[in-house]
Amino acid sequence: MKNNAMSVAKKLLQKTVPLAPKTYTAYAPANIALCKYWGKRNTALNLPINDSLSISLGKKGTHTTVEPIEGLKDIIFLNHQPVLKTDITYHYITQHLHLFRQCFGQQAFRVISHNTIATAAGLASSASGFAALTQAIIGSYGLSLPQSSHSILARLGSGSACRSIGYGFMWWQAGTRLDGQDSFATPLDCQWPTLQVGILTITTQKKHISSREGMQHTTNTSILYPRWPQEAAKHLQAIKAAIKQQDFKTFGEQVEQNALTFHATMLASWPPLCYWTPDTLQHIQSVWRARENGVKVYLTMDAGPNLKLLFESNQVKAIKQIWPNLDIIQPFVSI
Ligand code: PMV
Repeated sequence: MKNNAMSVAKKLLQKTVPLAPKTYTAYAPANIALCKYWGKRNTALNLPINDSLSISLGKKGTHTTVEPIEGLKDIIFLNHQPVLKTDITYHYITQHLHLFRQCFGQQAFRVISHNTIATAAGLASSASGFAALTQAIIGSYGLSLPQSSHSILARLGSGSACRSIGYGFMWWQAGTRLDGQDSFATPLDCQWPTLQVGILTITTQKKHISSREGMQHTTNTSILYPRWPQEAAKHLQAIKAAIKQQDFKTFGEQVEQNALTFHATMLASWPPLCYWTPDTLQHIQSVWRARENGVKVYLTMDAGPNLKLLFESNQVKAIKQIWPNLDIIQPFVSI
């Protein structure tokens, strides 16, 4: 049988017995990839080519309520605004609900979702969005499923969402199975209480090319892409070892190298793909300057122009002097 999102979801869901759906609210944190996922071995199932590792952002994420309603059509609100049926977001959300409806019967929902993080500007709102939606619908039907199934179901909505079903460091193994049943995220058994993430927002404008499209374009056209999986594997191993030893210097260097390799790989696509603005480059250089002046800070960036800074609590004073408006998150404290 051909694997598609519906058949994969069915396999997981038919092992459970649903209750009558009820109103349910769930929360999922956004996550920032420390070692990025870029490139799919299966686009329909969001199966990645490489393993990735992220840090969840505590209280920054998505709150989603699903409420069963009469009628045939879902009603969706995102950040207090109705989402039109012609909008692509409406399509993705209803498609995700269909994964459950195919097993549990036709049921329309009112979905009310709001982000505590900027939407679609490379700040990982689709990850927390699909993770929260998945958890809310699982909760609505009272399903008893293992965490791996939560992660797989979230992945079917958006790849990186599979890492937003947990807190702390989340490791998404690419897996090798064609149906992706071995491709889900698990938490690393490791805390780093002094670790901080600073969000340096350059713009909250919607990005010009989605991650989905950008990823596809890079894998298809970048002359550097063939090198990406092996470099990412090296970064991942080094980052995991550095986390275990709480070796911040190695950790920061590897995370930053991974991010810059990722952006260089996109730039080598044709037509070139660049998510940076002139301000992005200026801020990257300000991080490098801060380091030259002895501040222990590193950066990472996703498919967007904004920067995320990594540092430990003993650097906060110096960091705040350079970036007074930085939004600082303590991933292991503010949960
Ligand atoms: O899950 P998507 O389709 O939003 O892609 C996420 C891609 C990156 O954020 C750039 C990297 C990652 O691993 O999260």
